[in-house]
Parts: sequence; C-alpha cells; structure tokens
Amino acid sequence: RVLAGPREDLAGRHVVVSAGGTREAIDPVRFIGNRSSGLQGYALARTAVARGAEVTLVAANVTLPDPAGAKVVRVESARQLREAVLTAAEHADAVVMAAAVADFRPVRQSDTKIKKSSAEPDPIHLVKNPDILAELGEVRRARREAYAARDAAGGAAGDVAAAGGREAGDGPGAATQVPGDGPHPRVIVGFAAETDDVLANGRAKLERKGCDLLVVNQVGENLAFGTPDNAAVVLTAEGGSVEISRGPKEDLADVVWDLVAQRLA
Ligand code: CTP
Ligand code: CA
Repeated sequence: RVLAGPREDLAGRHVVVSAGGTREAIDPVRFIGNRSSGLQGYALARTAVARGAEVTLVAANVTLPDPAGAKVVRVESARQLREAVLTAAEHADAVVMAAAVADFRPVRQSDTKIKKSSAEPDPIHLVKNPDILAELGEVRRARREAYAARDAAGGAAGDVAAAGGREAGDGPGAATQVPGDGPHPRVIVGFAAETDDVLANGRAKLERKGCDLLVVNQVGENLAFGTPDNAAVVLTAEGGSVEISRGPKEDLADVVWDLVAQRLA
C-alpha cells in the first residue's frame, strides 16, 4: 500500500463497528464467553475515525480504552449487541461485525449464585442467539425488494425519487412507507474465524449471511486472538478474494476500509 498521508475517504460516512465478545450469563457471577479481545474491532474503529468517518463502536466486554472520536456503546450479551447494532445501523452506510457473538445462551439464568451441593450439578440448557449479521442482510434484502416494488408500482414515485438511491438512513417519511422498517446499510461486512476448510467455509458463510464482504481469519499459529497481528482473506459477494498477509490489525483494518470505501463510491 502507498502511504499518502491522512486519507479522508470516509468523510461524511457513518460506520458501525462491533467489537469484542459477548457474555451470556449463567448466574450473577458466571457467564459463557469467548476469547475475543476486541483488538481488531478497535483497530477498525480507530482507522475509520482517521479516515474521516463518523464511527459508532458497539463494544462487548472489551477492556481497551475508548478510541478517540468514536461513539462507544457498551454491551454485554448477544441480545444487547443486537439491539445496539440494529439501532446504529439504521443510519449507517456500513456495518462491520468484528464482534464474536455467542451462538448460544443458557435458557434460564439464575437470579442468585448457583451453589455447590453434595449432588451433581444440573446441566446448563442452551438456546440459540439471534444471528445479527444474517438479520442485517435479511432486513436489507427485504427493504430493497420493497423499494423496488414501490418503484415499479410508480404510485409513490415522487417519494421514491426523493429517497433516490439513498440506501443508508432512508430519510424521514420514506421509512414509514416501506414495510419492515429496519437497517439498510449499503455495505455489510462479517468476520469469520475458521480452523479448517477456511475458504470453502468462508464462501458458504458469506452466502448464508447475505453480506458483501467476509473477512476470514485462520485461527491457530498464535494468530488472531489477543495478538497485535492478524492475517486474513477477504471474500467478496461477487466471488472475488483479497489476501491480507500477516501484519498489524491496523493494516488489516485499512484494507477492509479500502474495500468498503470502494463499494460506497
Ligand atoms: N454473528 C452474528 N450473530 C451471531 C453469530 C455471529 O452477527 N449470533 C456474526 C459475527 O459477528 C461474524 C459473523 O457473524 O461477523 C460470522 O460469525 P461466525 O461465528 O463465524 O459464524 P456462525 O454463523 O456463527 O457460524 P459457526 O458455526 O462457524 O460459528
Ligand atoms: Ca458462531
């Protein structure tokens, strides 16, 4: 990459980044969690601020200092993260889901600390959490369809033209006329950590989730979790791929924003 001083190619854009890992409470003192440090998400937030974006950072259980210039929303569980991301995404141009979201949560959480007794412990029953990335993609698809249908019907042509091509936000008024109010960002980016069949799994995941870009990390060899370095392949919805060689998470973040900026241009 050519380092050409501070770029402002995300000026005027609102981007949402999720970072860290969710925690699913078992009782007031215990949770099911994961190893995400939040470093990659925070690097994404910092670099987006540096490139001129308005940044909302939804941080799940991250112990890093708030990045200067970003709006930070702190959450704990997957359901809280969903709420915060969907709300922020409503007026966003791009959403990058770098957070590690717990796939499952305990069906019930105890209001009081579970005590040890002479009996064997009860099993913890799990239930699926909502898939936030898939939901972002699904709501966008439904909204695009609704706008296209309204376009084709021609009836509310004036309103459609007024909203013309504006996908992010969809100004006041427009949103109320389209069924399924919801987030409609133009670029949706997912992350995936895979241990085997990295590319095939990544490709299937991108399609399943309906996102535009999927950053696929190979986990292991001291990469990814809690380290300053990362390496990845970015898969695109069109079937392309961009390799990012091992380097600082800031560099990976900049490549992601390069690809996002291209798609927003
Ligand atoms: N993700 C999400 N909501 C979930 C789970 C994952 O939004 N409940 C997002 C993550 O933030 C990430 C992407 O989906 O950007 C891929 O996460 P990953 O765990 O790799 O995908 P899963 O569909 O959960 O598949 P797997 O069985 O491999 O865990
Ligand atoms: Ca998962």
